[in-house]
Amino acid sequence: MGDDLEKVLLSKEQIEARLDEMAAEIDADYAGKDLLLVGVLRGAVMVMADLSRRLHTSIEMDWMAVSSYGSGTKSSGVVRILKDLDTDLHGRHVLIVEDIIDSGLTLSWLVSNLRSRGPASVEIATLLRKPEAAKVEVDVRYVGFDIPPEFVIGYGLDFAEKYRHLPFVGTLAPHVYNG
Ligand code: XMP
Ligand code: MG
Repeated sequence: MGDDLEKVLLSKEQIEARLDEMAAEIDADYAGKDLLLVGVLRGAVMVMADLSRRLHTSIEMDWMAVSSYGSGTKSSGVVRILKDLDTDLHGRHVLIVEDIIDSGLTLSWLVSNLRSRGPASVEIATLLRKPEAAKVEVDVRYVGFDIPPEFVIGYGLDFAEKYRHLPFVGTLAPHVYNG
């Protein structure tokens, strides 16, 4: 494992400090309201666990799994629902919780999909955002960190399903990709 890692981009401490700030903002914005957190599987598991435990607002949690059809590593914006929500969104304040926004195509599809279900509001919180995301018209209310356009792992993010459990966000050494 030590050899697989190239560098730590965001330490556990940096992530935790930023989540404190994001939770305080969310608490202030949703004071007196019931909030439904919608986590996007599987990457958002860590953010959901750590962000939700910092909130004092009344919350419920639900989960969606989506897969985006695309060539290779680029997402196309054509999305298939693998697991839908169990919750009726009518009149609900919805906050989508994401690990990372890259092209933003998946998320922009998800926002329109959820908006069509009659919620009171739909907003987005993401731990990480890459520069590409700025090109898509998706308004992200809460952003943890803007990061460079590098492939990152850890804190829910994987390479071939590995490294999700790491408590920090880092980049991989080239030999891991190149075999
Ligand atoms: P969009 O539609 O915003 O897709 O392009 C975002 C999804 O792409 C994946 N993704 C990554 N996964 N490290 C990862 O482990 C990365 O650096 C990375 N960049 C994008 C991820 O599934 C995210 O939900
Ligand atoms: Mg994801």
